[in-house]
Amino acid sequence: MSAKSIVVLISGSGSNLQALLDHFADQPDVARISAVFSNKADAYGLERAAKAGVPSHVLSHRDYADRLSFDQAMMAQIDQYQPDLVILAGFMRILTPEFTRHYAGRLLNIHPSLLPKYKGLDTHQRALAAGDSEHGCSVHFVTEELDGGPVIIQARTAVAAQDDADSLAHKVHALEHRIYPLAAQWFVEGRLQLANNCAVLNGAVLPVCGSSFPPAP
Ligand code: GAR
Repeated sequence: MSAKSIVVLISGSGSNLQALLDHFADQPDVARISAVFSNKADAYGLERAAKAGVPSHVLSHRDYADRLSFDQAMMAQIDQYQPDLVILAGFMRILTPEFTRHYAGRLLNIHPSLLPKYKGLDTHQRALAAGDSEHGCSVHFVTEELDGGPVIIQARTAVAAQDDADSLAHKVHALEHRIYPLAAQWFVEGRLQLANNCAVLNGAVLPVCGSSFPPAP
């Protein structure tokens, strides 16, 4: 079986990209990050890609007349890498239904909240404002509904009295770096699918909130 091709989309720091690069570095026969795309020329993740010897492309949405023409240009370039899996890793653009349909079942996102809570932005601030005792992150299949596709795995952390949005973001990031490579690994091993709008892992339909990390004893 040939190595799976993974394309990663970023807009910023790319710490999740780094976690994925590190994770797959020692299993080139299983999967490789074949390209990185950014909509921001100054995204630090581009340096991470260069350091890892992975080709990168910058497509600025500002160069396109509308959302669809940007997405079509992205799809054309992404498809040159024949991706088995497309991973959104802090890609901060809303995607068109044309894009999400094109990659349906092979498009993952990570979101910094315990979905379905806090779709959209400012998730750490919103968890604090709500007085939540726990917070976390979710990996999910991307569908047409923003941050609404079936959840694959979530990781949780307690919210401490002294936490602010920055400290929570820090804790959540560390969890993201654990669960995103795990979900990607399941996918490239053929253990994870999207079926009838549900996430299926090892042949079993996952509950609405996905599986949890660390796994229950
Ligand atoms: C991550 O926290 C990710 O969950 C979030 O952006 C950050 C990217 O960090 N994504 C979203 O908010 C998507 N709605 P990174 O660039 O260091 O990987």
